[in-house]
Formats: sequence, C-alpha cells, structure tokens
Amino acid sequence: MSQQHQSSKDVLDRRTLAGDHRRLAELLRPGQSVLDVGCGTGSITAGIAEAVQPGGEVLGLDRDADLLARAAARFAGRPGLSFACGDVLAFDAEARFDVVTAARALQWVPRLDEALARMVRAARPGGLVVVLDYSHERLRWEPEPPASMRRFYAAFLAWRAGLGMDNALADKLAGRFAAHGLEAVRVTDQDERSRRGDPGFGAALDIWLHVIDGCGPAMISAGALTEPEQGEARRDYADFCRDVAEGLVMVLRAVEGTKPGG
Ligand SMILES: C[S@@+](CC[C@H](N)C(=O)[O-])C[C@H]1O[C@@H](n2cnc3c(N)ncnc32)[C@H](O)[C@@H]1O
Repeated sequence: MSQQHQSSKDVLDRRTLAGDHRRLAELLRPGQSVLDVGCGTGSITAGIAEAVQPGGEVLGLDRDADLLARAAARFAGRPGLSFACGDVLAFDAEARFDVVTAARALQWVPRLDEALARMVRAARPGGLVVVLDYSHERLRWEPEPPASMRRFYAAFLAWRAGLGMDNALADKLAGRFAAHGLEAVRVTDQDERSRRGDPGFGAALDIWLHVIDGCGPAMISAGALTEPEQGEARRDYADFCRDVAEGLVMVLRAVEGTKPGG
C-alpha cells in the first residue's frame, strides 16, 4: 500500500528509549541483536544501540527514505547502529534477532497479521517480540475538544479503518501474539498522560495538529474530509490547546511475547 502520510520529524526527534519505549528499555541486555521496525528518525533506535553495548547491534527499518536519511545523518558512526529502507510487509529475515520491536509503527500497517508473522520469523527461537502501540478509539481529551475537532477525529478513525488500519490495536495485540504462537505474552500499560502544567503538555497536544496537517491531505483526497473542515479543526483545536485543554490520555500498551524454542 502507498504511504498515506509522513510522521512529524519534530515529534519523532524528541522521543527517547527511556521515556518513550520504557518496557523495551527494561528488557534490553548488552550483546543483543535488535530489529526496530518503523524506526522513523532513529531517536529510539539510537537508544537501543547504546543499551545493547558492548557487542550488540540494532537495525532500524523504515519504509520512509526521507526519515531514514535524517536518522542516518543524526546518528552516523554510533557503534552497533545501522538503518535500512524497506516495508515490514516485505521484510524477509529468519531467526536473526534476539529482540524484534515496533513502536507506534504497526498502527499504520493495514495487514497486521502479515507484519507480525514477518516479525516473529525474524526473531530467533527464544527471542522476544515487543510491540508498543495505541488504541486510538480510547483516546481522551479533557474537556472534550470543539465540535470541529471531534468531527475531524471521527473522520480520521473512519478513514484509517477504511484503509484496514486498526483503531483498537493496543487492545488486540495480546490475542494476535498468542495466535502467532508467541508464549509468555505480557501487556504493560504505557499510556501517554499529560496535564496542563506538566512539562511537554503543549507538545503532547500538538501531536494532533501534526496529524491534521500530515494526514489531512490524504483524507481530503480520499473524500473523508474537506479543506474547510480541515482548516476549521486546525484553528479551533489550536485555540482549545492554548486556552481550554486540561488533559490528554493516549492509550498505549507494550505487548511482549517469546518465540518458542531456544
Ligand atoms: C509514528 S512513527 C514511529 C517512529 C518511532 N518508532 C517512534 O516510536 O517514535 C511510525 C513509523 O513507522 C513507519 N512505517 C509505517 N508503516 C511501515 C511499514 N509498512 N514498514 C516500515 N515502516 C513503516 C513510518 O514511516 C514511521 O516512520
């Protein structure tokens, strides 16, 4: 499937392993080999490379050449860190990695089971698969945003569902892990919670301005949104963020499982 939007580089650049893929940070050990699917601009991937030293390595995979070029430029020369351009739905490696992970990437993949099958295949027997992702259906603003933004969000969910993307992914991952034969499946709550006054509150809310800008054009082309609706949602949501919003919860789960054997 063609790419529907590009993730905001600024949002991706700010992420860290310790802050934004916390369960994986607890699981990594020196010497491990890791595959990071949907690595974006490489912020979390660089943290993984550091965590597996000495002796370990991480391959960051992304289908977006532009984001990967930025990742390569930002982190050139880091020990154990490399990047490759490719779609997880075409990734073909067998029993190669101790840990296979994807953070906030499978939300954009329409054929979840095919992606998971390829990720499980890439893990060695006894290796770990760790997926971190959202349940967009359960996102909560406090108080509710303006009607134009609620309409945008409903259109966003419907547009995604129409493309085969799962808006309740976080809630389904454990079941899909078991269906793919992974054992000792464990789910960890990693919700992104932000309240007015917290550091980073503005940036957390702004993610949805990036989504309005980033996904809006594809939604308009698909007939899921009009340009005036996009403009109104953007304006009203920016005002809401500045003057009214008190909190945001984005429901996020880390799901891990072990490949049998090993
Ligand atoms: C929201 S970003 C997450 C980046 C990073 N993992 C993080 O948590 O900050 C999602 C990334 O997944 C990538 N992606 C989406 N679908 C993909 C696919 N089918 N194969 C490889 N990468 C994909 C996008 O290009 C994007 O860089």
